[in-house]
Parts: sequence; C-alpha cells; structure tokens
Amino acid sequence: MENGRTPAFSRTEMTELVVPGDSNQLGNILGGRLMHWIDLAAAITAARHAGHVAVTASMDSLEFLHPVKVGQVVRLIAQVNWVGRTSMEIGVDVFREDLHEYDVKKTSTAYLTFVALNDEGQPIEVPPLILETKDEIDRFHQAEQRRKIRLEHRQRI
Ligand SMILES: CC(C)(COP(=O)(O)OP(=O)(O)OC[C@H]1O[C@@H](n2cnc3c(N)ncnc32)[C@H](O)[C@@H]1OP(=O)(O)O)[C@@H](O)C(=O)NCCC(=O)NCCS
Repeated sequence: MENGRTPAFSRTEMTELVVPGDSNQLGNILGGRLMHWIDLAAAITAARHAGHVAVTASMDSLEFLHPVKVGQVVRLIAQVNWVGRTSMEIGVDVFREDLHEYDVKKTSTAYLTFVALNDEGQPIEVPPLILETKDEIDRFHQAEQRRKIRLEHRQRI
C-alpha cells in the first residue's frame, strides 16, 4: 500500500449556477439535481484519494435547510473524513450563494460512503488518511460512529 494522503490532497470544490432546467415550477432547485452534484463532488474526492475509480455504497439522510433559486449559485466542498480498508466516508458541505446580495448560507451536509474498485470491479485497498488538524481528527472520530450505525443498518436490510 502506498503512503497516506491528507484530506487536503483530495479536497474538491465544485461550483454550479442553477438554471431553469435544474428547477421545479417554483424556480427552486430539484432535490435530485442537488444530490447528483453531491454524488459527483464526493466521487471525484474518493477517486483522488484512492487513485482508483470509486462507487457510491451509501448516502446518509439529507436535509435541505434553505431553498436554492434559479440564478443562485451552489458551492459544494467535499473532503475525505475517514478511510477503512477499501471504503471511505466523504463529507460534502453545500452552500447557497446569492451573487447580488453577497449572501452565503449552508443548505446541507451530506455523508457518503465510497468503495474503491480495481479493474476487475473488486474492492481494493485505499491509502491511509493522514490527519493533520484537530478538525480532521474530530471528523474522523465522528465518521467512525456513523459507520457503526450504517453497518448495523446494512445488516438489517
Ligand atoms: C459497494 C460494493 C462495491 C461493496 O461490495 P461488497 O462485495 O459488499 O464488499 P464488502 O462487503 O467487502 O465491502 C467493502 C467495503 O465497503 C463497506 N461497505 C459496503 N457497503 C456499505 C454501506 N452500505 N455503508 C457503509 N459501508 C459499506 C464495507 O464495510 C467494506 O469496508 P472496508 O473495506 O473499509 O472495511 C457493492 O455493494 C456494490 O457494487 N454496490 C453497488 C455500487 C453502485 O453501483 N453504486 C452506484 C449507485 S447504484
């Protein structure tokens, strides 16, 4: 296994302008479109860390705290919180930005589990995560708790 990588190595920032094709009749972004962007930002982060393609194994529950309107901007920041043997938890913070009022609000935080796959489609080991800051250490421990809950849930279904 190669040397570890820091969360900063794979951190991904993605910015999208909400256009009419992304929205419902009220001009609010569709939840599914936002989930697609969250999945993409997390997938890029996971693949950067792993050095391999990575697939979504799960996405935790998601809340939309503020509506996002056509013409506003969505900023997504994704980073690796935790790694296991072949799986990784990626946290994605989603912000709504209003370009005219210079107003930025956090609208969601999503947690996704990705599994790195080799060329045969089998899970493959990922590099260790090098934690450098208190925030990264806190995120790691919190992610471990969420993983326990996820695996219990997976067992039940
Ligand atoms: C994700 C997938 C590759 C896991 O394969 P698997 O044969 O179950 O592999 P394993 O049981 O060895 O699990 C591999 C790792 O993923 C973790 N994992 C699997 N499912 C998980 C879940 N729902 N939540 C959290 N972790 C999960 C395991 O704990 C293990 O972690 P570790 O290696 O870090 O200890 C397989 O279920 C799959 O291909 N799912 C479909 C993925 C996909 O197509 N996603 C796109 C949207 S449908």
